[in-house]
Amino acid sequence: MKALIATGRQDELVAFAERDEPRPAPDEALIRVAAFSPNRGEIFQLGWNPQLPPGKDVAGLVVQPAADGTGPAAGTRVVGHTAGAGWAEYAAIGTDALVALPDTVPTVTAAALPLAGLTALRLLRQAGPLTGWRVLLTGASGGVGHYFTELAVSAGADLTAVSTRGDRLRELGATVVADVGAAVGPFDVVLESTGGDAFPAALAKLARRGTLIWFGQASQQPVTVNFFDLFAGPTSATIQHFHYADHDGPDGPDLLTLVRLVEAGRLHPEIGRVADWADTATVLAALRDRQLRGNAVLTLEHNR
Ligand SMILES: NC(=O)c1ccc[n+]([C@@H]2O[C@H](COP(=O)([O-])OP(=O)(O)OC[C@H]3O[C@@H](n4cnc5c(N)ncnc54)[C@H](OP(=O)(O)O)[C@@H]3O)[C@@H](O)[C@H]2O)c1
Repeated sequence: MKALIATGRQDELVAFAERDEPRPAPDEALIRVAAFSPNRGEIFQLGWNPQLPPGKDVAGLVVQPAADGTGPAAGTRVVGHTAGAGWAEYAAIGTDALVALPDTVPTVTAAALPLAGLTALRLLRQAGPLTGWRVLLTGASGGVGHYFTELAVSAGADLTAVSTRGDRLRELGATVVADVGAAVGPFDVVLESTGGDAFPAALAKLARRGTLIWFGQASQQPVTVNFFDLFAGPTSATIQHFHYADHDGPDGPDLLTLVRLVEAGRLHPEIGRVADWADTATVLAALRDRQLRGNAVLTLEHNR
């Protein structure tokens, strides 16, 4: 089968290669991939660990159900989240991270859900009940940012989103500012994912005893925080590290929640580009270079 692999080159991050079809474990179904969605973290991984077959977010058709009898039957349209190897014609995915799609949720839409959606959902849980709270979200124009914004605003948060491409975020109910410096605090909760200078600038906007949840470093610039600055800003602040995979239990139940929210019209994946997977390298470069809003989705023509 055809699969995409890391090239180690910046101008063309991935290329096609021939690979054996995956041999599913007893608790995995074999999926004929129809669409997948790359995430910023996966682009970083292509450089850090080029041996790792890329691809975590996949939607398609079950062609071989799991041998242990769990999960959807052959012919079921599904979305799944896996550790890797999803940017390929076929993928083996554990049935505990696979969800059958209702007729009203298109395959392309579903492909954009897993990693960014699971992250937004779990960030909401970590942040606590947001009703009436003032929340600041940096790096908001990406996949995670759009999901988090829609869910947090509907939970009653007063959300300020930092984004240079914030039209949709504004429609979703956020106050949008182009840089952290323009955000008017103090905020009860800050969600920071860009790193560099944005981190201390966002931390300074926190209310006394507020919480900053640190979930990324899109700029890849390390963060410097000056202890003494905090006396003028949020004394007794809490900084929490967040990783979406630091979660008890399988991903299936949360993925099902996301699918149901989409089905109910309460969550609208923001898909900045849909392209044939032959154009994956170009789309990855656009994502890396901050040219896309929300998620991108690549489709496999013969599988559509
Ligand atoms: N901890 C976890 O478990 C977890 C899980 C998923 C994602 N993440 C992280 O969360 C962040 C958002 O993820 P995502 O998939 O939504 O990413 P994304 O779609 O690429 O969005 C990231 C956004 O960060 C903003 N940004 C600001 N400064 C940047 C810079 N110097 N370089 C690149 N982007 C910059 C960009 O918005 P503007 O161009 O509009 O400023 C960009 O749209 C990423 O940092 C990702 O690595 C963490």
